[in-house]
Amino acid sequence: MRTVLFVDDERSIRNAIERLYLERDDVRCLFAASGQEGLDILRREEVWVVVSDYMMPGMRGVEFLSRVKGVSPDTLRIMMTAFADLSIAVDAINKSEAYRFVTKPWNNQELMAIVDEALMRYQLIQSLGSENEAVYRSLAQTVELKDPYTKGHCDRVAGYAVSLAHAAGLDAGTIKDIKYGSWLHDCGKIGVPESILNNPGRLSDDDFETVMQHPRWGSEVARQAHMPETVINIILYHHERYDGKGYPSGLHGEQIPVEARIVAIADVFDAIYSDRPYRKAYEYDRAVAVMRELAGSHFDPRLIEFFMPIAEAARNNPAPGMMVQGTEAR
Ligand SMILES: [Fe+2]
Repeated sequence: MRTVLFVDDERSIRNAIERLYLERDDVRCLFAASGQEGLDILRREEVWVVVSDYMMPGMRGVEFLSRVKGVSPDTLRIMMTAFADLSIAVDAINKSEAYRFVTKPWNNQELMAIVDEALMRYQLIQSLGSENEAVYRSLAQTVELKDPYTKGHCDRVAGYAVSLAHAAGLDAGTIKDIKYGSWLHDCGKIGVPESILNNPGRLSDDDFETVMQHPRWGSEVARQAHMPETVINIILYHHERYDGKGYPSGLHGEQIPVEARIVAIADVFDAIYSDRPYRKAYEYDRAVAVMRELAGSHFDPRLIEFFMPIAEAARNNPAPGMMVQGTEAR
């Protein structure tokens, strides 16, 4: 159960938060009046997120959060600070490695949004840390559910990417990680609102900015879950471009790890060769022509050469190389 522990010495604050969450039956709220009481709860309950006051008699918020780390290392820690204390608090917050902080008095929507994001993050870290292939794949499907038009996308991307990695002569261990990275490449989209993902029109600058956060957000979580570097690179760099005009880092050419260059090709090919909310799939000839045209700008030209026979194989058999159970035929 998604559990949040709020620690504050003031009863009125605890009551206000309790009222705020009355309607939310998807979140279980626990309360403690002191750091000590909070630690006792953490020893017996699985707490996903802890929100602590900064100024408390006895154990201060910073010390409490530092100790939370020892008792329950995966729990995400959020500090609440009166605005007046903010400048002195920031340093202390950094020392306690709080994930976020919220200023008092807080805005209800903002507080809940920050807590929700932390809950999603906790869940994702648990899934990624499971080292379980079935969990990775179901996570990929969770992302696809947010955008029904991408159904089967992650499996097809994995199929193309694994075939391409074979053709490029990569070793078996790396290829296995490329399969996982392909499934998980968009896991950061869990943090992007569905209203933006399903928007059939042109995105506003702000919305596009939000979408562009998904590689970083996803890769941070993957790093926290101690995923292999190959997987993290795919999540972080799958929107980089060969000419350096991609995001988030603007890497170019071979600065972009080969695994990310491979998945970028697989990702775009599947995107144009399947239906999307805003257009039908491209015909095969047109899809291949587009891929060729983008060699050298978007894609590594050497890898595009390796990819052509794989695309050809996909023409009549859309799940090339690696048939994954349940793959949607197109
Ligand atoms: Fe992406």
